[in-house]
Order: sequence, then structure tokens, then C-alpha cells
Amino acid sequence: MADSQQLVLSSRAPLRSRRDRAEDRKELHRVRKELRPDKHRVEAEREAREFTFSKMPRGGWKLDQNLRGRTRVDPPAHRASSKTLGAAYPFLTESGEILRGPYIGENMLSRSPFCFDMWDAYDDGVIKSHSVAILGVKGSGKSMLAKSWASRLALMGRHIAVPHDPNAEWSKVAAYVGGKTVAVGPGIDAKVNLLDPGTPDESLTAQAWRAQVLADRRATLKAVVNLLRKTIDLAPEEHTALDDALADLDTNATVTVVDAFHKLREHSKDPDEDIAHASRRLAHTLRRLVAGDLAGPFDGPSTIRFDPTAPIMTVDTSRLKNANPEMQALSRLATSAWVRNATSGSNRGKRVVVHEEAAIALMNEVHGGSGLKDRVADEKTARHAGTSNWYLLHRIADLDALGDEGSAMQTQARGLLADCETRVSYQQHAGEIARSSRMLGWNRTMGDVVRKLGKGQGLWQIGPDRLAMVRNKLTDLEYDTFRTDAQGGPR
Ligand SMILES: Nc1ncnc2c1ncn2[C@@H]1O[C@H](COP(=O)(O)OP(=O)(O)OP(=O)(O)O)[C@@H](O)[C@H]1O
Ligand SMILES: [Mg+2]
Repeated sequence: MADSQQLVLSSRAPLRSRRDRAEDRKELHRVRKELRPDKHRVEAEREAREFTFSKMPRGGWKLDQNLRGRTRVDPPAHRASSKTLGAAYPFLTESGEILRGPYIGENMLSRSPFCFDMWDAYDDGVIKSHSVAILGVKGSGKSMLAKSWASRLALMGRHIAVPHDPNAEWSKVAAYVGGKTVAVGPGIDAKVNLLDPGTPDESLTAQAWRAQVLADRRATLKAVVNLLRKTIDLAPEEHTALDDALADLDTNATVTVVDAFHKLREHSKDPDEDIAHASRRLAHTLRRLVAGDLAGPFDGPSTIRFDPTAPIMTVDTSRLKNANPEMQALSRLATSAWVRNATSGSNRGKRVVVHEEAAIALMNEVHGGSGLKDRVADEKTARHAGTSNWYLLHRIADLDALGDEGSAMQTQARGLLADCETRVSYQQHAGEIARSSRMLGWNRTMGDVVRKLGKGQGLWQIGPDRLAMVRNKLTDLEYDTFRTDAQGGPR
């Protein structure tokens, strides 16, 4: 027992100090680390074994059939129909149906030229209405598109009207194409007679034309009274009083609001008490245009006229910006009447009517005007009249101010947008995408595309099933003439 104990004791290694043992552990760790395979190296070696091309130099191998390097690939030319190519290269090849019309820009996917004319597209059965909605955030290029497209259409013989140009940016376009501009508003000597008959409709007999002028004057005066009073409608005896006054003036060559005012004052002494009272009330309402706060722009025969034969006719309303809302609404009334006259009867023709800041025009309905009602009525006859209305809007949410969800006004405004068979969407904020997707029928990819669009780039939805991503291209002269950011540097 003593021997075996001794043996055990003698076979033990000599006792090592704590420091030595720590040294040993460190050494062991180092050796193990050295022997451990390097994960990245192993991965790289495996990749090199399996995918030999991963070692390919950036410029590619210097081989004959190099597909990615500097050596040129020269495949034999192959000719195929656009239908076959469309199947072989979906999304890259145009369908072959080249839309007709003026050049707008470049198809961003196929790099082919993109042209569009609403009337040609309508004749080809691509769209069922001529109206166009152009949506996009501020500065995304909506006006630039409208200006370049409209001016090219004008050069091809179409007519353009801009009844309300709040930023006076279309005057340059009119000058560029050889059109005309008139300015209205405070500080301008020009007068606009709200009761002007406009250019006679040659398709009507003289008698029918007179009846039409009388009906138009009646409607205009009633709209003016409603607008000034902010009430829904006139009382029955007021309708009679207005009709009587206008009938008495029917023989005059020119009839102005001032004439109507004086006639109503005469009738305020009518033996029929009701008519006398109604005439007096109406005269008091119209007095604001004759001698009150709205006197000036509308109290005489017109000194400026809308020329339906000009290639582009624009109405500079920039001076109305600080004018009171009634003055603005009255000017809209006058210019809308001009455009209606220029686009109806024998004056009918292919004409684009550009509604810059369309949401504001529609909003005037809320303040007693008839912006929305006029638009809805106009859209009903637009196809027949050959008019293409272009509505420029920042976002769908702008229409919410017209009323609560589901209210008649909001439904009408949305219907107006839904009827536009050509929808051009410029960049939209992320928060607007969901609502726009619902209204404009986008899928998730389209929403993503619109969110990331650059300046001057738009997603075009034409009719029920045509789509294109288009970059609006301008010549240097067009760019310098149409740009709105005056202090910006060169492109
Ligand atoms: N296709 C384009 N090519 C080059 N520059 C463009 C293009 N479209 C727009 N721009 C530049 O963007 C600026 C703003 O464009 P534009 O006036 O059309 O914006 P907008 O969408 O009408 O803005 P707002 O809603 O404020 O009226 C132009 O002045 C121009 O410099
Ligand atoms: Mg604009």
C-alpha cells in the first residue's frame, strides 16, 4: 500500500505555478485558433469551385464570346413582328400600336417615342372620353406637361383655351404659339360684359339665336344674383321680375349689367306690388356691380374679347389673387361663358380647355359659385362638342374639401375624375398612394412607381388597359419659355 502510494506520487507531474498554467491556456487557445478553418476563406474557395465566373475580372475575360466584358457582342440581326418581340421581351417591347398625335416624350421602359392625341385615340376606340386628369405634387411637372403637349397640339391645328390662369404662366405659351392673352382683374382697364352674346352660332336661325341669347342672359344674371347673395335660388316673383327686365332690353344692341340694373329700378315702380318689390330687391343686389365694391370690371360693354379662332387663348387672372372671392367668382363666370360660347354650336371644334388648379375652381361651388355644377354639365356635352378638358390637381384629397365622405358634391367631383379616361400621375407623396390607388385603380407596383417618379416623369393610364411610363421631353427653347422656377440654373 505504501509502495503504490509512493508510485502515484512519483508519476505526478511536478506542480506548476498559477502563472504557468495561464500561459499554457493562452498557448492552447492560439494553436486552436490557427488550426480552425477560416469561414470566409472556405466559403470563397467553395464558391470558386462551384461558380467559376465569380473570379471573372471586372472587365470580363478577354475571350471571343465574352458577354459582359469589353469584347463586343455582335449577334446576327433578327427581324420579327412587334407581336413576336412583345412576347419574347415583355415590358420592353412596344405593342406595335403606335398612338398617334404630337410627341410628348420618351417611353421610359422601351425608350420609344410616346405620342398622344385624345381625338385620334377616341377614333381608334382606345378611350371613350376626351377628358384628361393630371395629378402630382407641387413642382412635379404637371404644368410643364400641359404646356408642352398643348403647344404641340396647337401647332398641329387643335385649339387651346385656358379660361383661368392664376399664375400668368400661360401667356408665354400663347405668345410662343401665336395665340392671344387677355387679362382681367383689379387695376386693369379692361371691361368684361357678363351679358355678352358672344360669336353668333351660324347653325341657328336669327330668331333661334336671339332666343338663345336671352336664355343665356337670364341664366347669367340669376347666377350673378345667387353668387352675390350666397342663397340657393331666387324667389318666384324675382324670376318674373328678371325675365321682364331682360325682355324689355331685348331690342338693345348691347345689354350690360348696368342696363339690367336701371331697368329693374324702373320696374320697382310697377303697379304690381310683388313685381315692384322683387325688382327693388334685385336692383339692390346688382348695385354692387354698378356702383359698389365690385364696380369696374363688369359695368360696361366688353373691351376685350375671347377669340375662338386663335390657336391658344388664355385669360390671365393673376391680378384676381388678392381680390375678394365674389370678384374671382364673377370673372370665372365670364370666362366660362366665353369658353362655352366658343365651343358650342357652329363654333364647335376640337379644343382643349386647360383647368389649372382645378380643385380651386371646383371649390368655388362651396362659396356660392357654380364651378362644380358647370363642370358636370359641361362634361355631359364635352364629347359631342369635341372639347377635351384637362384637370390639373395636386392630389385626390383636395376634393375632400367639397363635402363629407359620400356627400353629393364630393361624389360629383369624384365622378368627374373617374370619367377622365386618360389619367397622368406625376409624383405623389407616400401618404396619398393608398387613396390614389383606390380612385385610379393602381396595383401595388403602380403605387410604388408613382411614389418614386422624378420631375417630368408620369405614369399614363389610357383607357381601361393601356399603361405607359413617360418622360416628358422638351426642347431648350420650350424649357426656357415654359419653366416656372425663374431662379433655377440651366438644366
Ligand atoms: N419635363 C421636364 N423636364 C425638365 N424640367 C422640368 C420638366 N417638368 C418640370 N420641370 C421643372 O420643374 C419646374 C416645375 O414644373 P411645373 O411648373 O410644371 O410644376 P407643377 O407640377 O405644375 O407645380 P405646381 O403644382 O406648383 O403648379 C419647371 O419650372 C421646370 O424647371
Ligand atoms: Mg403648375
